[in-house]
Amino acid sequence: MSLISVDQIAAHQTLSLNPVNTLSLRGRIRIPGDKSISHRALMLGAIAAGETVIEGLLLGEDPRSTAHCFQALGAEISELNSEKVIVKGIGLGNLQEPLDILDAGNSGTTMRLMLGLLAAHQDRFFTVTGDDSLRSRPMSRVIKPLQQMGAQIWGRKHNSLAPLAIQGQALNPIHYISPIASAQVKSCILLAGLATTGQTTVSEPALSRDHSERMLQAFGAELSIDPETHSVTVTGPAQLSGQAVIVPGDISSAAFWLVAAAIIPDSELVIENVGINPTRTGILDVLEQMGADISLENQRLVTGEPVADLRVKSSPLKGCTFGGKIIPRLIDEIPILAVAAAFAQGTTRIQDAAELRVKESDRLAVMATELGKMGAKITEFADGLEITGGNGLIGAEVDSYTDHRIAMSLAIAALGAKGTTQIHRAEAASISYPSFIATLEQVCQVTAS
Ligand code: S3P
Repeated sequence: MSLISVDQIAAHQTLSLNPVNTLSLRGRIRIPGDKSISHRALMLGAIAAGETVIEGLLLGEDPRSTAHCFQALGAEISELNSEKVIVKGIGLGNLQEPLDILDAGNSGTTMRLMLGLLAAHQDRFFTVTGDDSLRSRPMSRVIKPLQQMGAQIWGRKHNSLAPLAIQGQALNPIHYISPIASAQVKSCILLAGLATTGQTTVSEPALSRDHSERMLQAFGAELSIDPETHSVTVTGPAQLSGQAVIVPGDISSAAFWLVAAAIIPDSELVIENVGINPTRTGILDVLEQMGADISLENQRLVTGEPVADLRVKSSPLKGCTFGGKIIPRLIDEIPILAVAAAFAQGTTRIQDAAELRVKESDRLAVMATELGKMGAKITEFADGLEITGGNGLIGAEVDSYTDHRIAMSLAIAALGAKGTTQIHRAEAASISYPSFIATLEQVCQVTAS
């Protein structure tokens, strides 16, 4: 039986992994563009004046949803590719009323950030929907502050779930004190603030990813940042002009290879061109605490974002405890960190991570169930997980729940497990990492025993 095989049944893929004990991971790889930065480059490009040129765009399903929505809103976006995408911006306040419902697909970032822009378009009407997962995710976290600014938005379940209808209005600036550290909430309000007259401030309990702040400044918006109170203020009305954006590789995609090479003996990988924005590098801090051997090479700044090549070598891992302010810095990496914990000696406790319950799936419940099927000692709490590792995993039949990060995390768990694992609905990986299986095939090396 081959190490990696894929069965396609209608729209679904089952990924089978049958590792041998002489498997190691080796080579130099490049990972796809950062998802968060890709969304923002398309959106800011669409609302800026003039042309935006994007290099390294992620070609996953999520940025495609953003591109389709903004094309329907009147922006001209060239064919998507990772070399060079040209966005002909239509200027702030000029998004057109689309003829049909905007579809954000699986993408929370598309829906939440776009809402901030749509709500501020006076006299225009918009409807927005998404897939099964997105239609069950909370939108009140952005609708409520937008309503405080004067927005008119309607949706299912007392205006909290998509599909949503938006009657654009002239909005007023606010100071919003967000109860959650969420870059999607922060960015939505800042984007809404661009069109107001005056200062819109968002304060959050801990710093979430700051790609919007960096890119808004690069596009010419007037922003002030108070790091003490985790507050950002934008002054409207803003003047945005198109820019050249080079999208770095996504550390959330690199995370799978960091953990894979750490846990599979005799492995060494270099992951080139990874974004290491400090609001995203919680995974590096936790893996270091667990004893991973990761070094940063060739550090540089690329269009306002720090980038490096990451070298990872296998090493024994030990359990650790993390929670609090580090959580927003590794929010998307908790499923793969749960896999690392299953291969680490001792107990790992993940705390303050209740937000994972409202991601593309309930990631705490799904990881507890699916890793549990592979024999992991894993307990689920309201806001986290406790995993006692070091006993080895066994191959099993598991499911992605159509969540991209679950599909890829389970694939890495399967590489380190004994026997065959089948991952159902593995096609979900294409949301953020369409070439995941190709890279898996590239790095897996089997030495003759
Ligand atoms: C994102 C922010 C995060 C993250 C998501 C992308 C973004 O969500 O989980 O994958 O691009 O702003 P929250 O900000 O809601 O935690």
